Amino acid sequence: MIIPQNITKILLFILIITLIPLVGCKQEKAKEVVKDELVYPQNKKLISDKAMVVSAHPLASKVGMDILKKGGNAVDAAIAVQMALGVTYPVAGNIGGGGFMVIRMNDGTVDALDYREKAPLAAHRDMYLDTLGNVIPRLSLDGHLAVGVPGTIDGMAKAFDKYSQLKNWKTLIKPSWDLAKDGILLTEREANGLNRTKDRFEEFNTSRPVFVKENGEWTKGEKLVQSDLARTYELIHDKGRAGFYEGEVADELVAEMKAGGGIITHEDLAQYEAQWRNPIVSKYKNYEIISMAPPSSGGIALTQMLGMVEEYPLKDWGFHSPQTIHVMAEAERRAYADRAKHLGDPDFYDVPVKELMDKDYLKERMSNFNPNAASPSDVIQAGVFLKESDQTTHFSIIDAEGNAVSVTTTLNTGYGSKVVVSGAGFFLNNEMDDLSAKVGVPNVFGLIGEEANAIQPGKRMLSSMTPTIATKDGKLNMVIGTPGGSTIITSVFQVFLNVSEFGMGMSEAVNAPRFHHQWLPDQIFTEKDAFTQETVSALEKLGHKVGVRGSGKIGRFEGILVLPDGKLEGGADIRGDDSASGY
Ligand code: GLY
Repeated sequence: MIIPQNITKILLFILIITLIPLVGCKQEKAKEVVKDELVYPQNKKLISDKAMVVSAHPLASKVGMDILKKGGNAVDAAIAVQMALGVTYPVAGNIGGGGFMVIRMNDGTVDALDYREKAPLAAHRDMYLDTLGNVIPRLSLDGHLAVGVPGTIDGMAKAFDKYSQLKNWKTLIKPSWDLAKDGILLTEREANGLNRTKDRFEEFNTSRPVFVKENGEWTKGEKLVQSDLARTYELIHDKGRAGFYEGEVADELVAEMKAGGGIITHEDLAQYEAQWRNPIVSKYKNYEIISMAPPSSGGIALTQMLGMVEEYPLKDWGFHSPQTIHVMAEAERRAYADRAKHLGDPDFYDVPVKELMDKDYLKERMSNFNPNAASPSDVIQAGVFLKESDQTTHFSIIDAEGNAVSVTTTLNTGYGSKVVVSGAGFFLNNEMDDLSAKVGVPNVFGLIGEEANAIQPGKRMLSSMTPTIATKDGKLNMVIGTPGGSTIITSVFQVFLNVSEFGMGMSEAVNAPRFHHQWLPDQIFTEKDAFTQETVSALEKLGHKVGVRGSGKIGRFEGILVLPDGKLEGGADIRGDDSASGY
């Protein structure tokens, strides 16, 4: 028999059961969630009250968010996310590569960390040339000779020393160590990527790496346990920088080099130091843009492109109207011509930073802009453009105190050199290809370099990575960035304008179709179906060559926008497994 007291309990139970889905619905309204059929749900558009992490992998975003909830600041979270991507996103997340971190603290101070790889001390100008002085195809891209001295762990240690709020290195590393030890489930994209690259892993490794499945192919949802990497993370967890650049891991890396004909030595590892740089700070209307300084070309080229289009009525012309595309492509063309000539490692080459960004110079640069015709690029060398995937990765973070961090990090192309350090379990970069193997000969992205970017021992290679933070009327407004090789700078340029000129929210701005011009080859590259046939015809009439980029996609953007009510809108690119996490 049911007594009245139980009836009350039952009614209460029914009420709760009824309310749970309603509460769930309320939360879901702020989210656009994509379920990757069982692997990890991805928040593509997320509105949160206080803090946000957007990265290329849902687990990495979660790791960063957990650190923020534990009281870490945006830099603490960035270190944790970088380490997590090294486990969850082997195609580009890394500890065997490098990157750039742009920081804006809530008191308005800005900073930039350069943890870009360096050419080994034994590198020399002609190391990729045959006896006739011709570039040996792919020598700077595949295998041990393609590897630059990794900068990621020294970078994370330097960021920790200067900015950590948690002041507990181990707390930042432990979640990723656990992920390597316990395993991660492969998303469909990652499984396909590993399967596609299997032959090259086998060709360029001295022992079978864990990424090569012994029998058959990887499938979506399958667990990847990285025991060697877990031991490397344990050493980094216990010893910090020394756990990577000294001791067992350093010995293994140098042994790997010797076994495969590479040239990185213990001395290279001991000498590696990430550098604090002054970020590139510039103005666009009522925005201030804070971006990466050389050895990245990103901040300067972005400033140039924005400076060159600032006086044109883009908003009136409209998003992706032929006039808008034309003037943006012409600005891109001019900025990339300057990139090839003037940009390189500032420790080796006097980069004319002020001159390149001078408003009068930029005006002069556009003085030959013809609204009715494309300006043909001088053909110096036919570009070999974008056959290789351009798998860098980016993450954007804002913490509850309003500190912001924008990080772009890379192995260069997908899985870098394809070499995994035997025993230590991580991929090594192929960043040497970003130096000019021969002056005037294009690299994998079709980019040409001159003296400024010629190979020298200990030199950092020129980059296009453009981690960027923007303020509006003096207040934090956007944290943005993307992978994409040479298309990185033009993608950041477009997403910034999508928000600032075309009134899009961050998710819409990130997912909008993109295009790219890089001076040489003289062509506008587009995503598949980015422009209507009418727009293509209008551009062709102006004299532009227009074509779809090989993969049909450009970049995998991660952005955060501070909304007028102070909430944060995270935009995680629909082009990948990217996901936002917030609270
Ligand atoms: N490796 C691509 C870049 O740094 O631009």
